[in-house]
Amino acid sequence: MASKDSVAGTIKVALILCVVCSVFISSAAVILKPFQVANKLLDRNKNILSAAGMFDPALNSNAEVDELFARFTIQVVELDSGEILGAERLAELGIDPATYDERSVFSDTQFSDVLGEDEDIADLKRRVRFSTVYTLPTEDGAVETIVIPVSGYGLWGTMYGYLALDGDGNTVNGIGFYEHKETPGLGGEINNPRWKSLWPGKKVYDEQGEVALNVVKGTGEGDFEIDGLSGASLTSRGVDNMIAFWLGPNGFGPFLTKLKEG
Ligand SMILES: Cc1cc2nc3c(=O)[nH]c(=O)nc-3n(C[C@H](O)[C@H](O)[C@H](O)COP(=O)(O)O)c2cc1C
Repeated sequence: MASKDSVAGTIKVALILCVVCSVFISSAAVILKPFQVANKLLDRNKNILSAAGMFDPALNSNAEVDELFARFTIQVVELDSGEILGAERLAELGIDPATYDERSVFSDTQFSDVLGEDEDIADLKRRVRFSTVYTLPTEDGAVETIVIPVSGYGLWGTMYGYLALDGDGNTVNGIGFYEHKETPGLGGEINNPRWKSLWPGKKVYDEQGEVALNVVKGTGEGDFEIDGLSGASLTSRGVDNMIAFWLGPNGFGPFLTKLKEG
C-alpha cells in the first residue's frame, strides 16, 4: 500500500478530493437550478407588476407578488400578424408561455430575424418573431391592463423594460426598466419614479393610428409628449426610438390594433 507521504499517496488523495469536490459542485448546481429558475421568474413578475404600478418593493412581499401576478394571463403573440398563438402552434414551436423568454431566443434564427436598416429604429439589430404579452382581465373578462416587453439602445447599451397600457391599447398605464447601462444621474434617470410618473395617462396613437407618443427635448405637453431627461438627450432619444419601434408596425402595432378592434 502506498504510504500517504509518497508521490502515489499524494496523487490518490488529490484525486479523491477532486472527485468529492466535483460531485459536491454538480449536486449543488442541480439542486439549486429550480431555485434559480423560480427567482428569475419572480424577478420578471416584479418588473411586470412594477411597470403596471402594482408593485412597491418597500410594501409588497414575494407572496403578494405571486398573488398579484397570478391575476395576469400570459400569452405569446406573433408580432407580424398580431395573432395570439393557440395551443397547437405553441406545441409546434415548443413554447411554454409561462416561461418563454424572448431574450433567450433573440439570436436564434428559428425565432428571430435581422432587421433592415430602415426598420431598426431602436437599434436592436434583430427582432424576435414571437413575444409574450401579459394581460390583466377585469372581472367581466374585458382587458384592464396589458404589459409588453420593450427594448431599445440608449447611449451605452440596450435598455430593457416593460410598458403597461390600459385595455384600450392606447392609454399608457406605466413604464419600468429592469436593465440598462445608462449613467446613474443622467440616462439612469429613466428609472427615477418622478420621471416615470409622467407616463400614465399619455396616449400612444393619434387619430390616424400612427404612434404619436414621444419623448421631447425639454418639457412635454399635451396627450402625447413626455419630458426629455435633462443632460441625457441621447438616452431620451433611445427611449423615444424604443416606443416608436415597439408600438409601431414591426412591434406590437398589429396586436394592439386587433385588441382595439375587440
Ligand atoms: C461620463 C458621461 C456620461 C454620460 N452619460 C450619459 C447618459 O447615460 N445618457 C445621456 O443621454 N447622456 C450622457 N452623457 C451626456 C451626453 O454625452 C450628452 O452630452 C447629453 O446626452 C446631451 O444631453 P442634453 O442635450 O440634454 O444636454 C454623458 C456624458 C458623460 C461625460
